[in-house]
Amino acid sequence: MRDDGVREEDEAEPNERIPEVREGSGVRRDEGDADEQQGRAHPAQREHGPPRRGSGVIVHGVSRADTRLPHLLDPEAYFDPARHAREVAEVLRPSWHLVAAADEIAHDGDFVTRDVLGTPVLVRNARGHTRAFVNVCAHRHTLLVSAPRGCARRIRCPYHGWEYDDDGAVCKMPDAACFAPVRRGSDRLSELRVESVGPLRFVCLDAAAPSLEASLGAAPMDFLRDSFAAAPGDPGLRLAVSRVLDHPCNWKIPIENVLESYHVPLLHDGFVARHPRVFRLFEGPARPGLEEHELGPGYSLVRDRLGARSRIYRGLVERLRPGASVAFAVLHAFPNLLLGKTGLVRFAQCVLPTSPTTSRSLVRLFLDLGQADRDLGERLLARIADRVAAALFDSLMRDDARIFPSAQRGMEGSAQRGVLGLNEARIHHFHAHLVARRGVTA
Ligand code: FES
Ligand SMILES: [Fe+2]
Repeated sequence: MRDDGVREEDEAEPNERIPEVREGSGVRRDEGDADEQQGRAHPAQREHGPPRRGSGVIVHGVSRADTRLPHLLDPEAYFDPARHAREVAEVLRPSWHLVAAADEIAHDGDFVTRDVLGTPVLVRNARGHTRAFVNVCAHRHTLLVSAPRGCARRIRCPYHGWEYDDDGAVCKMPDAACFAPVRRGSDRLSELRVESVGPLRFVCLDAAAPSLEASLGAAPMDFLRDSFAAAPGDPGLRLAVSRVLDHPCNWKIPIENVLESYHVPLLHDGFVARHPRVFRLFEGPARPGLEEHELGPGYSLVRDRLGARSRIYRGLVERLRPGASVAFAVLHAFPNLLLGKTGLVRFAQCVLPTSPTTSRSLVRLFLDLGQADRDLGERLLARIADRVAAALFDSLMRDDARIFPSAQRGMEGSAQRGVLGLNEARIHHFHAHLVARRGVTA
């Protein structure tokens, strides 16, 4: 132990932390891996052959023999305005975007405002239903609501006072005689499609785009429902952390950061040094766990044994959520939705561009702590879990955010294309998806 409190094993070189994978070495499967247990091939394996193994990772769905993968996007894909405009039009605009959690608009009249790809959006609770409108007055285009959140029984334009009802129809018009003929419902806000899964509220700007389920595909939708939709009689998830984070970088950089844990030893070293025990709740007692990656149509998924060997975390889960899995899984639903799940915690992150070189993340972290009628000890544990989750989450996000300006600056000055390792196969898979879309060139 050093006198600054860092244990010797924390000082190991990154390469020494990653266990070599040998055939048949202890890769444990989650409960859902029935195919594996029954000797059937993994779906991605049937298509691409056996999984590829690298140091510390197993990847299903890679067809290449090499572990080195090409960086399909060139640096201009991270800053060029024309490329960005095509990416928004072809990839992002037809997609569904996370805009709120139910707790943020829990009561009748509660609203939040968002900027979705340059469109001002008003998301509102109207008699228990979530409705979303373009946040622009039907009279002369003034922004209706400027506050980030609030509660209003009626929406009134601050310019000339037109008022709108729950359905977005004008219900009061000063000097209406000047606008004859005025028919009820003829003047209204532009409504946007909304879909909900558990506490998550999604909006789509494109009226012709497929539904959320059709847009995400079967596997991501199953993951979304399994992770966020409450079973009948279950108290459901409790919102623990709400963050809106502005990133000084292209929208793909924060996403790609979540798609690999190669950066963990270096980028999260400060947190590990300060809180080695807390970090090990999620990292295992001494070494990172073996990651298992699945590359599927429109998504990628990583499963990890993070936390599985921590007695503290296991004990907490057993006490508060008996039977819940402590395995950790993160799914990337293309293009910009990240979903995470482990025993007591769920998170959802949606990254949207605010310009070619800036972006914003909406991040919501939930706790799945079970029944509210607990004894004092369990209530205390639930509060501790709440605080630890929020502190850990903020710290990890801060660590990651430190690298984003450099990653962006480097992209803008780079003369080469870059390279990805097998441990970054999820990024390669994401890039292949973008390249396959019209308008997003390699
Ligand atoms: S612009 Fe809204 S009432 Fe005139
Ligand atoms: Fe990170």
